[in-house]
Amino acid sequence: MIDITSKESIIEILESKDTNRFNRLIEQAYNVKVYNLGNKVYLRGLIEISNICAKNCLYCGLRSGNSFVSRYELTDSQILEAAEFAYRSNYGSLVLQAGERCSSVYVDRVTKLIGSIKDISNGRLGITLSLGEQSYETYKNWFEAGAHRYLLRIESSNPMLYSKIHPMDNNHLWENRLSALNDLKNIGYQTGTGIMIGLPGQSYQDLAEDLLFIKNFGIHMVGMGPYLRHSQTPMGKEEHTTTDLTLTLKMVAILRLMMPRINIAATTAMQVVDPIGRERAIFAGANVIMPNMTLADVRKEYQIYNNKPGIEDDALITKSKLEENLSKAGIEIGWGEWGDPQAYFDK
Ligand code: 5AD
Ligand code: SF4
Repeated sequence: MIDITSKESIIEILESKDTNRFNRLIEQAYNVKVYNLGNKVYLRGLIEISNICAKNCLYCGLRSGNSFVSRYELTDSQILEAAEFAYRSNYGSLVLQAGERCSSVYVDRVTKLIGSIKDISNGRLGITLSLGEQSYETYKNWFEAGAHRYLLRIESSNPMLYSKIHPMDNNHLWENRLSALNDLKNIGYQTGTGIMIGLPGQSYQDLAEDLLFIKNFGIHMVGMGPYLRHSQTPMGKEEHTTTDLTLTLKMVAILRLMMPRINIAATTAMQVVDPIGRERAIFAGANVIMPNMTLADVRKEYQIYNNKPGIEDDALITKSKLEENLSKAGIEIGWGEWGDPQAYFDK
């Protein structure tokens, strides 16, 4: 068995260039996943409802300071149409994602949308939110309206590194992110977080500590992926070599060994680094994929990093490509199932 019991042993795996050891790690992680959760992959249809964002993260193309982006906001009927697509496609659940906004008009609109999505699907579609930091009350209202999962990445568990990639405006502090994550978990959400891998200035020690942070927090779901440059951002203007997928796959595999019963997403960023990156992540222990269902017209405006795949496609094309790729790789889909993280039910 590969040793993942101490920070030092995790760092050693992350640093190692030994291919045999890498292959063994991936195989073990896959086996642990199958033993604990089965071999199905669960789908969450992703709707990017708006690219308007109040935050100004130094790495992200949607940052408020990027004036080259044309900002959009889907209408309620466009969102509900996408939700119906998810329902008809038997995706089981969907994710509403957007930049961060906190006005009461916006918050109330989301509450109503959650109710409408429940209505059109006879309560059957699971609803995940990925709408940034909000107050305890807002999180609670959205939960009571029917959202049951929330994704909020910690980005880095190292407050120093976090402060280097997030400007201080808008009270953007690591402590607030942590406290939002605690709120989500206390309210009862299936709570997800994640980090970026290969950030400038990030060490193997940081990454090992990220994994330990995730474990100690008792998270239910994780989405992580390589940091990618976006040319219209302060960080994207700097020279940086993107790490290949090996490090990300190691992170997924180690996390699977550390937390056998959580959900781990194979993220779009993995697909940017390697066209079959998501499939490789599934074989390294991931068990969730989030196919994009955003209207083709606005997809190109939701580029958090450059070279985001599928921006010319619509929901149907994304679905058929994904099905084809997964079936080629011999990966079975859990159609119509919520695919809840088992860790949520463990006490
Ligand atoms: N590279 C990789 N991931 C990014 N994200 C934002 N910008 C980038 C980038 N340039 C990720 C962050 C954020 C999520 C929505 O997308 O982790 O939480
Ligand atoms: Fe906004 Fe999220 Fe991008 Fe930060 S990472 S600028 S919060 S969309």
